[in-house]
Amino acid sequence: MTRSFYITTPIYYVNDVPHLGHAYTTIAADALARYHRARERDTYFLTGTDEHGQKIEEAATARGKTPQALADDVVERFRDTWRVLAVSEDDFIRTTEARHKRVVADMWNRLEAAGDIYLGRYDGWYCVSCEAYYAAGNLEDGDRCPVHKRPAAWVSEPSYYFRMSRYEQALLRHFEENPTFVQPESYRNEIVSFIKGGLRDLSVSRTTFGWGVPVPGTDDHVIYVWIDALTNYISALGDIGSEKYERYWPATCHLIGKDILRFHAVYWPCMLMSAGLPLPDTIYTHGWWTVRGEKMSKSMPATRVDPNLVAGDISADALRYFLLREVPLGLDGDFTYEALIGRYNADLANDLGNLLNRTLTMTVKFLGGDLPAARAELADSEPHAGMRRVAVDAVKEAGDAFEAYAPSRALEAIWRLVREANRYVDTAQPWKLAKDPDRRAELEHTTHGFLEALYWAARMVAPVMPVKAAEILAQLGLGEDAAARAMARWPDASLAGKDLPAGLTVTKPTPLFPRIDDARAAELLERWVPEDAKAEP
Ligand code: MSP
Repeated sequence: MTRSFYITTPIYYVNDVPHLGHAYTTIAADALARYHRARERDTYFLTGTDEHGQKIEEAATARGKTPQALADDVVERFRDTWRVLAVSEDDFIRTTEARHKRVVADMWNRLEAAGDIYLGRYDGWYCVSCEAYYAAGNLEDGDRCPVHKRPAAWVSEPSYYFRMSRYEQALLRHFEENPTFVQPESYRNEIVSFIKGGLRDLSVSRTTFGWGVPVPGTDDHVIYVWIDALTNYISALGDIGSEKYERYWPATCHLIGKDILRFHAVYWPCMLMSAGLPLPDTIYTHGWWTVRGEKMSKSMPATRVDPNLVAGDISADALRYFLLREVPLGLDGDFTYEALIGRYNADLANDLGNLLNRTLTMTVKFLGGDLPAARAELADSEPHAGMRRVAVDAVKEAGDAFEAYAPSRALEAIWRLVREANRYVDTAQPWKLAKDPDRRAELEHTTHGFLEALYWAARMVAPVMPVKAAEILAQLGLGEDAAARAMARWPDASLAGKDLPAGLTVTKPTPLFPRIDDARAAELLERWVPEDAKAEP
């Protein structure tokens, strides 16, 4: 039996409502989970919220709320956004849940039992926005955190330490023996040189605020929020040793943004080694989106892209497609609404939408809507054989790309098929074939060819565009169950020419991606760009 596929997103802080960055990680993880489900792997997909720590406590105080009340409000915004964006998580973990806190305490006890916890003092810098400790030498302009450019706080308090230094060599060995532990390779190299610079013991408890999981056996220490947060990947499965834990741990992939690589690729594996637990297979690190060249920031409304708003106007699937197609998963990218609309018109309205439209229209017009069978005697002649070769290659290439965490490459391969199918229609000219009763077999064979291409394209884009894929299949005449079954299986290239279900009837198409003309684009920009951002020069 192939091993299960367990993929996670970071758990998101509840001091902020979901924005484009959160949506990106979650959509990428969702597409990968959906792909692996279609390969019939035992897949588990986890997301959730990170609700403890000083940052959340301070955000709640600033809003005149308790941290729990803040978390209870914001968690709904995340859940709602994931519904809007067609995210198919199997579980949603909140770090304030009892099931989580129990495992965090267990984890602590394991580190302690390993002799890796000792009491000391922390006198140093702390950035509340990062929830991270900083050595003075790593700050800018004296006291500013290099990430947030805001002053870090000087902290002086008793603190428990985790003997992370003890795991330096073992961790380096793990990187050597598992070259794909951190991907892409540039991030692997970055983290390996960080570890080679030497690992210091880590302060893992705080006493100057109370919003967290208590250190077992104390009444004044709370566990450092990253120790608490990272444990979600296990606590969501249940207690260590539980049935779900045995079934899914170690995780196949923690998908994360590059900002939190060190926590995942250093702290977490050291904790797991100390606790005697296996390490995840892969930490896949994606890049960072800027918006119109600027870093996303609460103080700059123009950088606040609301995925709910965009999805509401042009569909969640269009946003999902754009984010995964525009930039390869490991690289940084810049988001502009103009690029989004440009790609929507070119790839979705023109290429895919047009393929659906013209092929269904012709099937209705020339064959009364009945899906014909392929003709064995024509299979090896051109342009039919060429169409089939492209389709078979696309299934393989798109599959390989998804396996390699490269959804953008998968979409490129699928688009080679979509474009080839449009070209095939142009070359085979069904409208001419339809005029000549002697060429009926060719007409049927061609129609079968482009409809099967569409059928495969729909099933292959389903991990990225689950809603539109289902709509394409419905327009191809598949009932709801048949469409769901088709989407639950990746196309089998060896079935080319006989995969399209027989006996279906298509009706006149409904446009999936209505073109956004200039007037509509202006209207959308007006809606999407916040008022105060427009006032800026
Ligand atoms: N709570 C921690 C993670 C704990 S995981 C055990 C945290 N939360 S966060 O709310 O700040 O979300 C961080 C994640 O959101 C990033 O790692 C990244 O996946 C995603 N992104 C946030 N802003 C982003 C961009 N501008 N671009 C791309 N992804 C971004 O850190």
